[in-house]
Amino acid sequence: MVKYLHGFNSQEQQRLKDQAGFLAPLIYPTVDFSGCKKLLEIGSGVGAQTRVLLGLFPHLQITSVDFSSAQLDKAKENLKDFESRITFVNQDAERLLLHDKFDSAFICWALEHITSPIAALQQLRTHLLPGSKIHITEVFNSTFYCYPKSPAMDYYYQKYNEQQLRFGGNPDVGSQLGNLLFQAGFSKISLLHNGFHLDQSNPAELKRFIDFWKILMKSGADGLLEAGMVTQEDIAQMENDLDRVTADENAVFFYQFVQAKATV
Ligand SMILES: C[S@@+](CC[C@H](N)C(=O)[O-])C[C@H]1O[C@@H](n2cnc3c(N)ncnc32)[C@H](O)[C@@H]1O
Repeated sequence: MVKYLHGFNSQEQQRLKDQAGFLAPLIYPTVDFSGCKKLLEIGSGVGAQTRVLLGLFPHLQITSVDFSSAQLDKAKENLKDFESRITFVNQDAERLLLHDKFDSAFICWALEHITSPIAALQQLRTHLLPGSKIHITEVFNSTFYCYPKSPAMDYYYQKYNEQQLRFGGNPDVGSQLGNLLFQAGFSKISLLHNGFHLDQSNPAELKRFIDFWKILMKSGADGLLEAGMVTQEDIAQMENDLDRVTADENAVFFYQFVQAKATV
């Protein structure tokens, strides 16, 4: 059995599509592949980011790599209308072996799940031409802060992150992107922080992001229940805590992810 925090069921596959649309306004303003022709995407999932990239950069041909055939099957279905511009590859990013070279690369929410992100980046680099651009967006879960204090949310979040670690991933991999890219031999590395800092000055936006967060948290629920790390009651209380935050007049909801750019 593949140990993967979010699982591969159809609800999760739909979540990835919704998430890509929801977060696109935060992720893509800093992504620039203009002038690039062949992009390698690692951990492409159901092709939700691939679709955004294909739309934004009409000259790109994309090779999408994922180690889950279930995700790739769904991606093929989701991207039928872009068939001529995509190649799908079922491989583990840590042992990538392609007979092709690329001038650009993209990774989003995938290194966090990979046991050796340095191996994945080293492998990736061998497939990139000199001067290639890479763009990575990754989690930095320790940055999460919410007010008022929410013990059930804190408890669930601790278990959620523990599960990620137990499965060989790193819920704070975003913090390491600079080191990882440097150690993998990339140059011109730059890091950006992005995310949200919401409060009652914009209650609609606060609610929108807290609702998104609930769905994200619940994407780990099946695995956490199966491992006996949380109960149904813990999940319900975590959701109640988040509802209380939404309604609190002094609510604060804060999270930062990391975006890295570099060159070969
Ligand atoms: C959270 S999803 C993100 C998918 C996509 N990048 C997006 O943002 O919608 C992470 C994806 O990485 C894939 N993945 C995890 N470990 C991998 C590995 N070692 N090699 C290739 N793919 C991997 C999973 O199968 C999953 O589809």
